[in-house]
Amino acid sequence: MEIRLLRTESFRLTAIFAVLFVGATLILSGVLYAIVDSAFKSEIILNARQDLAAVKKGYDAEGIGEATEVVNQRLARPTTSDFLLLQNAAGQRVAGNLPAVTPVIGTVRLPVPTARKDDHGAEHRILGRGQFIAPGVYAFAGQNLAVLKATEHKALRAIGWTLAAALIFAVAGGIALSRGFLRRMDTMTQTCQAIMAGRLSDRIPEPGTQDELARLASTINAMLDRISTLMENVRQISTDIAHDLRTPLTRLRHRLELVSAEATTVEEYGVAVDRVIADTDGILSIFSALLRIGQIEAGAARASFRQVDLDKVVKSLADIYGPVAEDRKHVLAIPVIEPAKVLGDRELLSQMLVNLIENAIAHTPDRTRITIDLRMTEAGASMRIADNGPGIPAGEREKVFRRFYRLEQGRSTPGSGLGLSLVAAITQIHGATIELTDNAPGLCATIAFPKCR
Ligand SMILES: Nc1ncnc2c1ncn2[C@@H]1O[C@H](COP(=O)(O)OP(=O)(O)OP(=O)(O)O)[C@@H](O)[C@H]1O
Ligand SMILES: [Mg+2]
Repeated sequence: MEIRLLRTESFRLTAIFAVLFVGATLILSGVLYAIVDSAFKSEIILNARQDLAAVKKGYDAEGIGEATEVVNQRLARPTTSDFLLLQNAAGQRVAGNLPAVTPVIGTVRLPVPTARKDDHGAEHRILGRGQFIAPGVYAFAGQNLAVLKATEHKALRAIGWTLAAALIFAVAGGIALSRGFLRRMDTMTQTCQAIMAGRLSDRIPEPGTQDELARLASTINAMLDRISTLMENVRQISTDIAHDLRTPLTRLRHRLELVSAEATTVEEYGVAVDRVIADTDGILSIFSALLRIGQIEAGAARASFRQVDLDKVVKSLADIYGPVAEDRKHVLAIPVIEPAKVLGDRELLSQMLVNLIENAIAHTPDRTRITIDLRMTEAGASMRIADNGPGIPAGEREKVFRRFYRLEQGRSTPGSGLGLSLVAAITQIHGATIELTDNAPGLCATIAFPKCR
């Protein structure tokens, strides 16, 4: 047998319970033994008292002859004491089935006259009572304890066997439990080792039960899923950065080549340097946006979440962006605004709203109507930012949340395709959902926040 089976927690617990069970059974048996033993002995003493009373009655009535008669009668009856003795004042036996003894009064134990040692080596004794029924006339009545002792031995043997069987079952049960436990632990360990060795998509098999190990397995699997999503994100970001920063960097390099080939005057150099600085700023802003998305996705901001009055945020942003929209002859309106509290970060929520408003301003033709609705529903706050511009085709509505993803039609407008990625990261960290739908015409973004408790 494997020694590690015995070291498992399940085996240890089974062993503890087995010891407790044996202890409790021993105590119970001890108490029962004492009760039965004393009940038996009381019964013997009671019989003896009755027999002695009968003998004394006979003696009082008609003297020693009658007493002898009573002793003989009583001995013939199976229900009373099985040993009786009547002795005269000279200490000689007059009647009974015991040899004469030195009189002792009260509860007495006498050896059985033909005693042989029993199977267990114990010598049988007679338990009974001795009494002077008249001056000098001594009588004794009692019963052999052999029957009681034999019964007690049988009971003890039965208890012993029961305990032995219980112990065997406990050990076998403990081993079976531990084996099941170890098998499941081994599967978990093997899966973890496989994952460490590079098989990142491996998962611990979930048995479908609800015990601790099943819960642990499902928690570890959920954790692995989360880690692999994060890793996939990181991989995606690196690829995106490699792809999408090539364009501005190539443009920058091209510009520098042109300058080095063509610029001759200080003014021409000055103009070129200003452009290069602007291009570099653009690249830097892409980096900071990417870093920001990464930070938000990491979820550290959750620690500083407070109750935010979303309606106030909407109002103040509408005040700021109203004039910006007007410059493009757009209209920015808030048809419905209900007081709504959400648990979150005020600055991030403002950033989210700014990105959506800026998109509605930037990616739509002049004279577009932009509306923001904020409602408080049973499920929580619900915010809609809608415009009647060209909208986003259904097939692209998921893709625009990817980093650097821009529609063909939007390529002419400035931007890096990170605005909606940031929106997605912010909604996710707030436990909210965002859905893009057709505003017929235009785009409608609906953000549903969870109820703020
Ligand atoms: N309200 C809208 N109407 C039509 N198209 C939109 C709208 N909002 C976003 N889009 C499309 O989705 C694309 C992705 O938007 P996103 O905000 O992520 O990037 P961006 O606005 O192009 O650049 P950035 O926000 O980083 O400056 C946009 O390029 C645009 O094509
Ligand atoms: Mg944008």
